Amino acid sequence: MAVTSRGLEGIVASTTRLSDVRGDIGQLIYAGYDINELASKVSFEEVIHLLWHDRLPNRSELKFMEEQLRTSRELPEGVIEFIQHAPKDALPIDVLRTAVSMLGLYDQDLIGEDPLDLNRARAKSITAKVGVIVAYFHRIRQGKSLPPIRTDLGEAAHFLYLITGEEPGPEAVKTLDTAYVLHADHGFNASTFSARVTVSTLTDMYSAVTSAVGTLKGPLHGGANEEVIHMLQEIGSIENVDAWIHEKLRQKQKIMGIGHRVYKVLDPRAPHLKAMAIKLTEELGESKWIAMSERIAEIMFKEKGLNANVDFYSATVYYSLGIPTDLFTPIFAIARTAGWVGHVLEQLSDNRLFRPSSEYVGHTPGKKVVPIDQR
Ligand code: ACO
Repeated sequence: MAVTSRGLEGIVASTTRLSDVRGDIGQLIYAGYDINELASKVSFEEVIHLLWHDRLPNRSELKFMEEQLRTSRELPEGVIEFIQHAPKDALPIDVLRTAVSMLGLYDQDLIGEDPLDLNRARAKSITAKVGVIVAYFHRIRQGKSLPPIRTDLGEAAHFLYLITGEEPGPEAVKTLDTAYVLHADHGFNASTFSARVTVSTLTDMYSAVTSAVGTLKGPLHGGANEEVIHMLQEIGSIENVDAWIHEKLRQKQKIMGIGHRVYKVLDPRAPHLKAMAIKLTEELGESKWIAMSERIAEIMFKEKGLNANVDFYSATVYYSLGIPTDLFTPIFAIARTAGWVGHVLEQLSDNRLFRPSSEYVGHTPGKKVVPIDQR
């Protein structure tokens, strides 16, 4: 008999080799490696290779991957023109969603090759371009010039260089690179699932990533990191935390960055981001953000048994790096693109259309149409 599961909770929709979210024990695995093993030891580019090829690269494979990403960064002229003409007050995540869709219009160069190679080329091209799109829009909305694309910087360093126009420091690069590693994939989360559903109709990769960006944007998913900073700013100081949180809970409102569908214990990414946030805020002399965050997490665990998720401390990490709040979710998207396109390739390698059933709770069938002027 068919089972109804609201929000598909507990439903195993397909198989994947990319990552495993073990919610009961708070473990995240990328292709056999615990995220705690990867977080301090490998770069984002190594993780991309791991997700797309099911193993970590050797030196020459990593060099090849890095070169391919670095030489795929230039945006088509038409996409740059769109970014230049987008409303300056548009949300960067919306600009990214639309620009990813537009990339599909300029894909002719890749036409005519073997379909798998083509999709691998698209995966690299999209992954290489998402950071450039976000950074270019950020520059343009500030009325600043577009720094030339460079090929001597890794993904994290290049993004920081583009948004600031300056050579990024090694600490900032390491921090963002680790954040990218932690955000790269996460099982059948909502945005990844939407990418897989989209491409399961055998549409193209641009459509799948466009769906994914739109899905990530929502505050119950990747949009939560931006809401966390808004919340901390609204609370203002450690003295206000208890009253603010209790009032929100009394009003049955959700506290952003807290809770998770799959993790019933601590999200394993959160301690890494928390440690990074503590270090950065201490360096900036702004430790109040962490003190407030810790108090919020403490109250939420005591009152609701809920833990902080990946978005809770990543918000403070990006804030401390001087990144504007509305770039937080786009940064999440930049990192998660590696997972999205990896899942698209995996879905296409053994595709079956996603088409769940629904439980009909409407009127009893048998109604007759009453002529319109008698209704
Ligand atoms: N604040 C307050 N209460 C919460 C929260 C929260 N953040 N999260 C869950 N709850 C409560 C709900 O109110 C509900 O309580 P009730 O049973 O008394 O009504 C119960 O916990 C279950 O909540 P659901 O929303 O049904 O749980 P679900 O598994 O659907 O939600 C979700 C998971 C969406 C992440 C939820 O915890 C949430 O909204 N969190 C805040 C938004 C957020 O941080 N999202 C980012 C998630 S991580 C990511 O996507 C990258």
